[in-house]
Amino acid sequence: MEKQRKDDIILELKDVKVHFKLDEGLLKAVDGVSFAIHKGRTLGIVGESGCGKSVTSNAIFKILPKYGLIGGDILLYEKDHKRLETPINIAKLNPTGPEIRSIRGGNISMIFQEPMKAFSPLHTIGNQIIEAIQLHIEPDPAKARAIAIEALRSVDISNPEQRIDEYPHQLSGGMRQRAMIAMALSCKPSILIADEPTTALDVTVQAQVLDLINNLKRENDTSVIFITHDLGVIAEMSDDVVVMYLGKVVEYCDVDTLFYHPMHPYTRALLKSIPTEDKIHKGRFESIRGTVPYPINLPVECGFCSRCDEAEKGVCDKGEPPMVEVEPGHFVRCFHAGKGKEAQA
Ligand SMILES: Nc1ncnc2c1ncn2[C@@H]1O[C@H](COP(=O)(O)OP(=O)(O)OP(=O)(O)O)[C@@H](O)[C@H]1O
Ligand SMILES: [Mg+2]
Repeated sequence: MEKQRKDDIILELKDVKVHFKLDEGLLKAVDGVSFAIHKGRTLGIVGESGCGKSVTSNAIFKILPKYGLIGGDILLYEKDHKRLETPINIAKLNPTGPEIRSIRGGNISMIFQEPMKAFSPLHTIGNQIIEAIQLHIEPDPAKARAIAIEALRSVDISNPEQRIDEYPHQLSGGMRQRAMIAMALSCKPSILIADEPTTALDVTVQAQVLDLINNLKRENDTSVIFITHDLGVIAEMSDDVVVMYLGKVVEYCDVDTLFYHPMHPYTRALLKSIPTEDKIHKGRFESIRGTVPYPINLPVECGFCSRCDEAEKGVCDKGEPPMVEVEPGHFVRCFHAGKGKEAQA
């Protein structure tokens, strides 16, 4: 494992909670999430649908609905490529104030799961991309336009000189997705959050987008948060990995440890469910039984207990397991972690 240094941390989440007050009760979408992003490294976040991946990234970008309650700390240690003496606590910022607006786009940029979220329907995509470039890297309008055109070309938008003056609704869904990726990459952010950036794209463009993200990382020492369902992409892109389940981090370690020495039964179940050529050939798939529970009024127990083959009655259903550092840099939230059960992997 590459040595990680504490002073390399660029963004740190400490016990972050995002709860939504709904008529049915309090929905705990994110419930005590802690992890750190190191300079120039990619942190992959993986987990089934509904486990809180997008809400976590929206909390970092401070774009939550008004009825969302945020707790804990989201500490940003670098701004405008300079280390800060005192970190900025994004969780405490006014979501519409000038400080977060100066962070969005230039310091932290985001590829959204839904591309319509990134663009206003009232302005051309060009105006929106150029405005972001002018604000963060190149004030000259003609030069900013040229950078925007090149960014659109780099994501395979044909005839970018003309497309740049079109409105979001004039582009197809896939093209909008690519235009958003161009916008997120063109400002050379210190931190890029990519929430399922390639799910809607065809395979060749997918590979191209992953290359673009890796180039950005190499050339600018950008740190990346990469969210996906796809463990194959996690293996290809990540240095470190967070596995989320029901609003909580259940395993957190470097990518090799995750694939070669997974300890949480949920991580192992996810790994077993990867479709390999052999499994496709034999028509045999192992899916995780049951579904993710709805995060309202949950019993106080391990969240994975009802689906876990290794659950122990009277232990796993009697409280919430704490996060344990089972070996340096390897964190697991399971009552059995570090007690020999992982030998069954
Ligand atoms: N604006 C909202 N209001 C109420 N509940 C929400 C809101 N956004 C998300 N949730 C709920 O919060 C939980 C986490 O949602 P989130 O979108 O973070 O999941 P996800 O891990 O990104 O899933 P997917 O893989 O499907 O994108 C879900 O139970 C979801 O229904
Ligand atoms: Mg999501």
